[in-house]
Amino acid sequence: MAAVVRFLMPSVFYEPPQTFKIGQPADFPFGPPTFLVDEKIFVFRDRDKGFAVASAVCTHLGCTVAHFQSDERFHCPCHGSVFAPDGSVIHGPAPRGLQWFEVTQARDGMLRVDKDKVVPPSYRLMV
Ligand code: FES
Repeated sequence: MAAVVRFLMPSVFYEPPQTFKIGQPADFPFGPPTFLVDEKIFVFRDRDKGFAVASAVCTHLGCTVAHFQSDERFHCPCHGSVFAPDGSVIHGPAPRGLQWFEVTQARDGMLRVDKDKVVPPSYRLMV
C-alpha cells in the first residue's frame, strides 16, 4: 500500500526561495563580513563601498567556505581551495570563483538578496 501511495505522490524537491530579506542595513557591522548560516552567504559592509553579498558555497563540491580575516581570503575546509577577496580562485580544485549576488533595498528598508541574479564582484549597493 505504501508503494502505491508513494507512486501517486510526485517526486518534488522544494528549494528555499532564492530571493529573501536579510535585515536592516544597521544590522550589519562595518569590517569583517557577516556570515548567514542558513542562506550560506557573506554580507560585506564597507563604509565607502556599501553592501556586497558573496556565496559561501565552494564551486568544487559545495562545501561551505570560511572567510579568514587574517588574509581576507575564502578557504574551503574540504579540499583546500582558496579564493581571493574578490572570490576568484587562487588555487583549486575549485573550477570557478565564488558567486556574488545582487543585493537591493526593499521598500521597508530591509536588504533583499536575489541568488538568481549573479553580479560582478565590484557590484555594491550604496545605502
Ligand atoms: S568542496 Fe571546496 S575544495 Fe572541494
